[in-house]
Formats: sequence, C-alpha cells, structure tokens
Amino acid sequence: MAGFSLGEWVLLTSQKGKKWLVKIEDAPYSCHLGTIHLTDVVGRSEGDVLETGTGAKLFLFRVSLEDYILNMKRQTQIIYPKDLAAMVFYADLHPGQTVLESGVGSGALSLCLLRAIGERGRLISVEKRPEFAALAMENVSRYFGGRPPSFELVIGDIQDFGLHCLVDRVFLDLPEPWHAVGPVSRLIREGGLLVSLSPNVGQVQWMWRELKACGFANVSTFEVLKRDWKVDELRARPFDRMVAHTGFIMVARKVQRQRPAAAAPEKAADPT
Ligand SMILES: C[S@@+](CC[C@H](N)C(=O)[O-])C[C@H]1O[C@@H](n2cnc3c(N)ncnc32)[C@H](O)[C@@H]1O
Repeated sequence: MAGFSLGEWVLLTSQKGKKWLVKIEDAPYSCHLGTIHLTDVVGRSEGDVLETGTGAKLFLFRVSLEDYILNMKRQTQIIYPKDLAAMVFYADLHPGQTVLESGVGSGALSLCLLRAIGERGRLISVEKRPEFAALAMENVSRYFGGRPPSFELVIGDIQDFGLHCLVDRVFLDLPEPWHAVGPVSRLIREGGLLVSLSPNVGQVQWMWRELKACGFANVSTFEVLKRDWKVDELRARPFDRMVAHTGFIMVARKVQRQRPAAAAPEKAADPT
C-alpha cells in the first residue's frame, strides 16, 4: 500500500495504546509525549514509527472504522463498536445485499452497513431529522472519500416509507421501533432478517409482540458485554471500569404469512 500523503488522516498511537487521529499538514503536532513534524509522516508506511523530540515512539496507522466512528462528529447517541460488530454478523450481511436502515443519527451503523455490503450492495437509510441526515452524509462521505453510489439517504418517517422492491435486511435504531415493524414487514423479503437495537427492556417486549404480529419468527434477544483487561508483565486483570450496558439486540426472520385455510369443497348435490 502507498505511503502516507499530505491531506490524509493518520492514526498516531503510543506504545501504551493511546491514540490521536491527526490530519497530515505542514505543521507540528504535540501531545504529552512530545512533538513531531507532520510532514515527517509523508511517504512513510503503516506500522512505521516516529520519535518525538523527547524520544517517545509514535506508531503510524491508517484509521480503522472503529477509530473513525469513535472520533467522528456526532449529534446523536451512536451504536458502539461491540454492538455494531454483533449486529452486522448476526444479520448475516453479505456483499451485494439490499438493506433498509432507520434512523440514521450520526451514521455509525450506516458506515458499517456500507462497508459490509460493498459496491454492489444498496443501502437505503431513512432519517426524519434533516440535520442528522446531513451530518451522517458528511461522516459517510469523509470516510469513503465521497458519497458512495450504494448509499441512498432519504429524509422522512420510516412509518410512511415505501419502496418498489423488497430488501434483504432491515436495521432499526429508533426510540419506538415497534411502530416501524408493521410498515417494514411489507418491505422485507421472506427469509430476510430484521435487526433492532434498543436500550430499554420495555422496548424489547413491545418489539417482540409486534414482530410476532407482523410475520416474523425465530426472534432472538441478547446483549453484548465486552470487558477489557489490563495485561502487562506484572498484571493480568480486568480494568476497573467498563461500558457495561448499551442496548439489547433483537434479530428476527421474516416468514411466509400463514395463508387462510382453503375452504372445504362444497359437497356435490345429490342427483337423486
Ligand atoms: C439513536 S439515533 C440512531 C443512531 C445511529 N444508528 C448511529 O449509529 O449513528 C436514532 C435516530 O432515529 C431517528 N428517528 C426517530 N424516529 C424516526 C422515524 N419515525 N423515522 C425516521 N427516523 C427516526 C432520530 O431522528 C435519530 O436520528
């Protein structure tokens, strides 16, 4: 892969794993470990190391999606990486699929969905607040270096949204997702998966009832707890603090609606 160039973003990390996301410009950059000149990054490759004026080492990396999401501008709560990873995996998302998403918020989930479906896929994202839609588009475009052709961002209410095709997957991150289940159940193909994230358990029960009423089966509900550990020569133990509860993830599969039983054939009239 080509070396870093001027105008690109670089992730500087210390030996202890502290991170700084910095745009490469003709300027010095200082942190508590000392100062480097950013033009010294130009031409170097990922994994290379620069020494600050005080002799501390800074490693150079390209930004990961996790780092980008945690550093990007946001005006809404975003879905955390541990939940994003689980949602994409349990949705069994593949390149080329057509996906419907609502709401969009700051675009954290949109970024993960776009990367998973690739250039041949299609993501239709519905957000009712224009200012959040604009921010999400800005975050997505900055990450991909322009608006990806696979991304359609619609300003509107998911409850009134219609489409001329069926989608493979639906992702919901809404305060009252159960109001969206009926409308989206008409837009997802049979066998397709719906994935929803809700912080409160009351929301989960409303969702379960609505999913059952709208032709979804195999509903599973879980949460993801990620506990980081502090490991060095002297210690190997969990950190004192963790991001404990974020949300409950629900995954459900769209099934064929039960057709009404065919009426029994009328008895032939007795000819006698
Ligand atoms: C928590 S944020 C979504 C965050 C997003 N998943 C992310 O990771 O950045 C919820 C979003 O749903 C939007 N929203 C709420 N009700 C909606 C509706 N009925 N139709 C469309 N968007 C809606 C809100 O405006 C808000 O932007």
